[in-house]
Amino acid sequence: MSKLTESAAWRALAAHAKAQSVTRIADMFSSDPMRAREFSLEAAGLYLDYSKQRASSETRALLLKLAEQQDLSQWIARLFAGEPVNSTEQRAAMHMALRNRSGKPMQAQGRDVTPDVLTVLKRVSVFADQIRSEKKITDVVNIGIGGSDLGPRMVCDALADFADGPRAHFVANVDGAQLLSALKGLKPATTLFVVTSKTFTTQETMANARAARAWSAGQSQFAAVTANDAEARKFGIAAEHIFGFWDWVGGRYSLWSAVGLPIVLALGSRRFTELLSGAHAMDEHFSTAPLAANLPVLMGLLSIWNVNFLGAASQVVAPYAQRLQLFVSWLQQLEMESNGKGVDREGRSVDYDTAPAVWGDVGTNSQHAFFQMLHQGPALHPVDFIVPVECSHALKDQHQLLAAHALAQGAALMKGATSGDPHREYPGNRPSNTLLLARLDAFHLGALLALYEHRTFVQSVIWNINAFDQWGVELGKRVAGDVLGGDKSRLDASTQALLARLKAH
Ligand code: F6P
Repeated sequence: MSKLTESAAWRALAAHAKAQSVTRIADMFSSDPMRAREFSLEAAGLYLDYSKQRASSETRALLLKLAEQQDLSQWIARLFAGEPVNSTEQRAAMHMALRNRSGKPMQAQGRDVTPDVLTVLKRVSVFADQIRSEKKITDVVNIGIGGSDLGPRMVCDALADFADGPRAHFVANVDGAQLLSALKGLKPATTLFVVTSKTFTTQETMANARAARAWSAGQSQFAAVTANDAEARKFGIAAEHIFGFWDWVGGRYSLWSAVGLPIVLALGSRRFTELLSGAHAMDEHFSTAPLAANLPVLMGLLSIWNVNFLGAASQVVAPYAQRLQLFVSWLQQLEMESNGKGVDREGRSVDYDTAPAVWGDVGTNSQHAFFQMLHQGPALHPVDFIVPVECSHALKDQHQLLAAHALAQGAALMKGATSGDPHREYPGNRPSNTLLLARLDAFHLGALLALYEHRTFVQSVIWNINAFDQWGVELGKRVAGDVLGGDKSRLDASTQALLARLKAH
């Protein structure tokens, strides 16, 4: 047994979960008329209602004791001080410095990085403003994968109504179909390729970049966003079109850096700055609010409660906003590449669950896809509902419908319903969070993304794991080398037989 599951705070929560197992969420409302207000919190333009969680004030108090036991406040301080919280790579994780609007210095690994950040941000803005004002470039194609794709792609899609620059296209998959479909109708002379890769060695990205270079036949412009300047130059990209970022920026936390270049090209630097400001507002909240009144802390602790004490089988996220259709994909990498770990900071195998599978889809589509299981399936899948209050388009009455469904689903999951017919029974007592954003604009999107980044960090601290490395992605790459390489002897019989079939065709 590891120290964590033997610890006083953990055992108190386990005992509490047992004692509370017969209390329904609906009962908690009947016994506390102030519950809805008591279990809601607002910060940086976001309003969180967590009263539909299976958590009483005693649960909240015990979770806060667990946070205290795990030194959460000290870990938040270490994160913001730029200490090497990424212990296996001895690096800081200072994505907050990328969006620091305070004018005060922020350190990474003992050095104030604010001047470097502002210099790159300036270069990115000048370059993007020039491309946007010249109007020669009609299309930008970002070539990158994982954190070098999901963040900028999701933001450009979420804020597409504000786009006033060249059309943005994103190519990630090594499947040539994606690049070919992106290039359809484009002209080399009016296309800018942005090759985004922290390492500038990722196989998929380099394959697509080479194919794009061949397609362009020397007529397209190329830019690079990378932490590996030398490789970008070797690829043939001019120094003035190479925008750097640093090893203290994790890939899945990098959209705030020059990785956001496609966002600046599509939306302009003012809008990008609003995005940074929203994230910064959430950083300020996270780093200063007391734990009991701290949005990322409460959301992180409630996730621990659901996963580790209520046995939740997964975490569902349902943004009730079509423009957030890529939010779940971005969150999957953030959450599961950060916390999908089985070894703690001391190198011991954990004997508790860590990151749950994160999945979902926009509402109301999800109601016609998998909400059946959420309502009547035997397993517990807590839901985060994300709902913009204001409608950002002309069909206001349809927005009312959308929001009404979001609220209705949370209520129905919690209340359930009895019926004489067992097939029409709804067990209810199914927990959810409802997050209201004032509107889906750059500021509130920035705050929302930063909220989930910090929620992920909070969970990693409680689980005593490193959220900022990703050794798990290396083995697959090595085996791919064996599959592609000459010596198949290291491959298992199944893979060899499959390979032979593929080769035969
Ligand atoms: O998925 C592994 C990973 O290293 C991610 O962490 C990263 O975002 C992605 O691959 C792309 O890496 P790079 O930006 O170096 O091409």
